[in-house]
Amino acid sequence: FDGELKRAADALRAASRVCVLTGAGVSAESGVPTFRASDGLWEGHRIEDVASPMGFERDPRLVWNFYNARRANVRTVRPNPGHHALVRLEDRYGTRFTLVTQNVDGLHRVAGTKSLLEIHGSLYRTRCTYCGEVLDRGLDALPAIPHCHCGAMLRPDIVWFNENLPPDVWDAAQIAASECDVMLVVGTSAVVHPAASLIPIAKRTNDATVVEVNMTRTEASHYADVGLYGPAGEVLPKLVAELERTA
Ligand code: APR
Repeated sequence: FDGELKRAADALRAASRVCVLTGAGVSAESGVPTFRASDGLWEGHRIEDVASPMGFERDPRLVWNFYNARRANVRTVRPNPGHHALVRLEDRYGTRFTLVTQNVDGLHRVAGTKSLLEIHGSLYRTRCTYCGEVLDRGLDALPAIPHCHCGAMLRPDIVWFNENLPPDVWDAAQIAASECDVMLVVGTSAVVHPAASLIPIAKRTNDATVVEVNMTRTEASHYADVGLYGPAGEVLPKLVAELERTA
């Protein structure tokens, strides 16, 4: 592990631009459940069914129950040392740093990350199914099925299974991936596309050094030049300390 840590720190030291891709694993130590670690079910429902346009059409109350439960969970959690270490990393690179997250929990924002692309949306926001208005509602409790002032039903402003990513955020993520010298891939199983395709984009476009931080090997591991296997809340602070120690 120490040798890999040093290699990762060396790559970061030589890097001009850094892109970080995070997934549910970075929030695990904060107490936000990951998707695929358990049995992939929520109260007996497949996650795909409560997080898809078809599921919402079939049973909006069930889908809102799921999201209201996730919003309530996120209200009780705080960023962990992994989120904070990524803020320190951003301090070092300034505008040459981009954090792309698949997480909708807002914890990177709460921790203080500034250059943040939430490519799967946010639990904080609602979107009207008719007029399209997007509102940031924080994490206050919402009605069982919230409605817009125009009368139509609201939905979470989250990218569901079988939906496209918002083009502006996705374009920015692709640019960050294609320009970076180091891509740090943290706490994602890398099975959901197009998010996971940012890793080969970084590799192929700029021959970026890919550093994986995860509990286990994943679909991203065969792209990884360096693998740091352990909890992100411990590995990321060690990585940043190593980088700062030898700066
Ligand atoms: N530190 C580092 N990695 C961890 C930790 C931890 N403490 N705990 C778990 N992990 C890793 C797991 O080993 C796994 O590889 O985090 C990963 C979580 O994977 P998923 O649950 O599949 O989450 P993610 O990759 O973010 O899912 C992608 O799928 O459900 C959709 O849209 C949703 O954004 C989500 C997307």
